[in-house]
Amino acid sequence: MCGIVGAVSERDVQGILLEGLRRLEYRGYDSAGMAVINGGPHAQRARELGKVSALAEAVEANPLNGHLGIAHTRWATHGEPSQLNAHPHMSGDGLAIVHNGIIENYQELRDELKADGFEFTSQTDTEVVAHLIQKNYREQGSLYDAVKSAIPRLRGAYALAVVHADEPDHLVVCREGSPLVIGVGIGENFIASDQLALLPVTDRFMFLEEGDIADIRKDRIEIHDREGTPVERETNRFEHGADSAEKGEYRHFMLKEIYEQPKVIKATMEGRVTDSRVLEQALGTEAANLLDNVRHVQIIACGTSYHAGMVARYWIEELAGVPCSVEVASEFRYRKHVIQPDTLFLCISQSGETADTLAALRQAKKAGFRAALAICNVPGSSLVRESDLVIMTQAGPEIGVASTKAFTTQLTALLIFTLALARHNGLSAEREADIVSALHQVPGQVSDILALNGGIEEMSRAFMDKFHSLFLGRGSQFPVAMEGALKLKEISYIHAEAYPAGELKHGPLALVDSEMPVVTVAPNNDLVEKLKSNLEEVRARGGELFVFADKSAGVKAEEGVHVMQLPPVHEITAPIVYTVPLQLLSYHVAVLKGTDVDQPRNLAKSVTVE
Ligand code: AGP
Repeated sequence: MCGIVGAVSERDVQGILLEGLRRLEYRGYDSAGMAVINGGPHAQRARELGKVSALAEAVEANPLNGHLGIAHTRWATHGEPSQLNAHPHMSGDGLAIVHNGIIENYQELRDELKADGFEFTSQTDTEVVAHLIQKNYREQGSLYDAVKSAIPRLRGAYALAVVHADEPDHLVVCREGSPLVIGVGIGENFIASDQLALLPVTDRFMFLEEGDIADIRKDRIEIHDREGTPVERETNRFEHGADSAEKGEYRHFMLKEIYEQPKVIKATMEGRVTDSRVLEQALGTEAANLLDNVRHVQIIACGTSYHAGMVARYWIEELAGVPCSVEVASEFRYRKHVIQPDTLFLCISQSGETADTLAALRQAKKAGFRAALAICNVPGSSLVRESDLVIMTQAGPEIGVASTKAFTTQLTALLIFTLALARHNGLSAEREADIVSALHQVPGQVSDILALNGGIEEMSRAFMDKFHSLFLGRGSQFPVAMEGALKLKEISYIHAEAYPAGELKHGPLALVDSEMPVVTVAPNNDLVEKLKSNLEEVRARGGELFVFADKSAGVKAEEGVHVMQLPPVHEITAPIVYTVPLQLLSYHVAVLKGTDVDQPRNLAKSVTVE
């Protein structure tokens, strides 16, 4: 959740660290800090409460010059957001550390280190690690050895970067449960919790594996695995272009990412579908054999990715006739399961680093599932590395905390997977061709929806002064309604709940009055008539309706019923297309309310702690 960046170079590193933090701010934004070593006896440190801009102002006024440094942007776990709890944490004047993750046994270590005479200035678990490494350093006289011998004492999840003023030419990093990438430069090297942080300085990256420890110098990188064996980690090039993490002409990353959807949906289809069929070899050489043997699918994910999984369940059961269960990872990992024979375990994650999803995958690998398939957006992420089969979405970097293009590309990848599975389970070539042809139309249909932006912005004004809202959908549009509600609550802070429209009269109808806007997605499918009856139930109670409906569905605008007419869409691909107006609605409500759209309060993009 926090962001880490570090650099060792011939040049001053302050600018590299600050730019890295700006790019990592989506991971956490309650405080920020940096420590720089300049050859003197002390590490220089600056820390500020609030956003990276506050730190930037501080170091502009009092620069930290030096060729080695680490920096951090925080999402608080242990201890409130404050300057004292901000990273880097120090032990003595020379040792500085930044940390992403949680040290579960920090209290026990804290007591032990206090008894050894160490004084604590923060409430964080990280300061415990600083003192533990310092204690080892005093005994062993080598930063690398001090970090190495601290690791077995730590329980929990962490990515750490450590520097010491007495060793001004290297930094030591390690990871267990939290991501860490090394950026490979020429005569300089870098580390970060996400490669996006380092795109201005390099496009070559090495992903550390779980348990790795690395010694990073400007001209040398040495990595050892958990057993202490020297290892080489593959160097990969970043494929999306350095400007893919820039806002460009857009006011917010979220808006840019909404508008990128036609392009990235197309990119996710490329090489995987012809005009009329899915190319299952594109899912991996093992795919054909696997798909022949899958009798059940268990989908695991969190948040938006979970909603994608819920849509996929409708597709998998309808098109492939294969039973499918979907569960949020944080629930799945803590309960006993009955695993049907030949069950495929399918994880969906934008980041590939979500702690609960990874924990569920690791359990599943021991539990007798047929194989683990990942749908993921970040190459080299833990999820990708630990799964048997992977379908990469091609969304490119998603910076806005609220997921948009990741969701629609996940749906695209899931539909391609479903069609491949369905073909092994009797789907006719005609039906496959019909759906593939519908999929090819999706990028254009999404562009048509984007053209309705002005009208949706107009609609959003009605939400400005509301505190609650309901989102309704039926069938595969119910998860779309859930996703719409999640978007609205996370960026506008308006309470939003989603219900299957048929459930309305079983409880939530009691909430409906003129102060409760009700948003509904209504493609023209065999449930539309039933949905219209549900809308009547809302109108009869004075509820104001905002309906995104297929032109031909016959939903008419009248007093209290605002209708946005959408172009006709195939019922299978409708969840992808109908998501987009809800994204725009939430975006405009948030902009009107003046919230921080890209970095909503209390949230972080990648939830790498439990
Ligand atoms: C969505 O807008 C959220 N930011 C959040 O629900 C997110 O989808 C969830 O944390 C899962 O993340 P992942 O896809 O990276 O695993």
